[in-house]
Amino acid sequence: MFEHIDAYPGDPILTLNENFQKDPRQKKVNLSIGIYFDDEGRLPVMQAVRTAEAAILEEPGPKPYLPMAGFAQYRDAVQALVFGAQCPSRTAGRIATVQTLGGSGALRVGADFIKRYFPASEVWVSDPTWENHRFIFERAGFTVKTYPYYDEATGGLKFDAMLSAIDALPPKSIVLLHACCHNPTGVDLDRAQWEQLIGVLQKRDLLPFVDMAYQGFGAGLDDDAFAVREIARRGLPALIANSFSKNFSLYGERCGGLHVVCEDAAAADRVLGQLTGSVRSNYSNPPTHGAKIVARVLTTPDLKQSWEKELAAMCERIARMRVAIHDGLRAYVSGEALSRYIRQRGMFTYTGLSADQVERLREEFGVYVLRSGRMCVAGLNDKNVGIVVDAIAKVLAH
Ligand code: LMR
Repeated sequence: MFEHIDAYPGDPILTLNENFQKDPRQKKVNLSIGIYFDDEGRLPVMQAVRTAEAAILEEPGPKPYLPMAGFAQYRDAVQALVFGAQCPSRTAGRIATVQTLGGSGALRVGADFIKRYFPASEVWVSDPTWENHRFIFERAGFTVKTYPYYDEATGGLKFDAMLSAIDALPPKSIVLLHACCHNPTGVDLDRAQWEQLIGVLQKRDLLPFVDMAYQGFGAGLDDDAFAVREIARRGLPALIANSFSKNFSLYGERCGGLHVVCEDAAAADRVLGQLTGSVRSNYSNPPTHGAKIVARVLTTPDLKQSWEKELAAMCERIARMRVAIHDGLRAYVSGEALSRYIRQRGMFTYTGLSADQVERLREEFGVYVLRSGRMCVAGLNDKNVGIVVDAIAKVLAH
């Protein structure tokens, strides 16, 4: 029956992370997966999460199914965080929001929805993008193509080429965008560029699908949502996926949301119904625990404040680590190959290291970065940054 099943080649991120766990070496360093570790190299449990969770556990009770669309209080609080509480599209009921299994779940539910209603559209992703974007949309039946994005020569953005490629797409093409902290490059559009791009999306009748997995890790919770809010403000129909894996450090709880900005409230109702149907036929309804934690934090002012403060401190630590690796590598690397460590934003830096160099880093020094050269700078700390700098220096030397 299963003779013809070929072996799964593994996932470029999650399989590498699993291999790291199995690596018996003491001095290994995990800069592969997009996870924030603290200065001690531990996965933090945020104080607001601890407090909310303790309060929830004080209220034991039955555990019914959540509604298919998710926990109502969570959906509302998440929508407010993503779009701003006073967003006119939100107050007019034009946004359909469902609770999802993390950001990936949101992408998949969204992909199934658009495949059903825009079957002829193709999906356009940045070159490069998070590897799983391609897998998710291809598995949903789409042809996935790329638009220019990262400029290897400058470690920055090929904005003009990106804009003209998007300007040439057929109407109703799906354009996948990263709201902030682009994964894997750490290179984002500035506000003026977003304005221009959104103008093109609108003029060409394109459908943006914005992935916001790192809200709060770039320029702050509100600034990072600029593109999403500007799209909503201008009344563009759009899909937005958001995640609390990173900014709540709730990876395993699979907390996310899918939001579809619609032309009017009646369309939003119908869209919500179809998303709900998609959830039902995939996994029926989402889990409760993580959603309760997030909802409690976001709707309790002192917990929300504590969460924001702790998130800001995480970003400061990442910024400090960017400076540390930049300064450490100064003796071995120069120009933009060096400055990218402090210019790029969020959890990742696209190091420009080749696949061979990456392999040597792992094999010879136990330093894990992705084959693409993506380094998760949120995995650096005062103790391991020296090890990483030495390893890179040695690999670059011969
Ligand atoms: C990453 O990019 O490393 C993270 O988003 C984890 C994942 O699921 O790939």
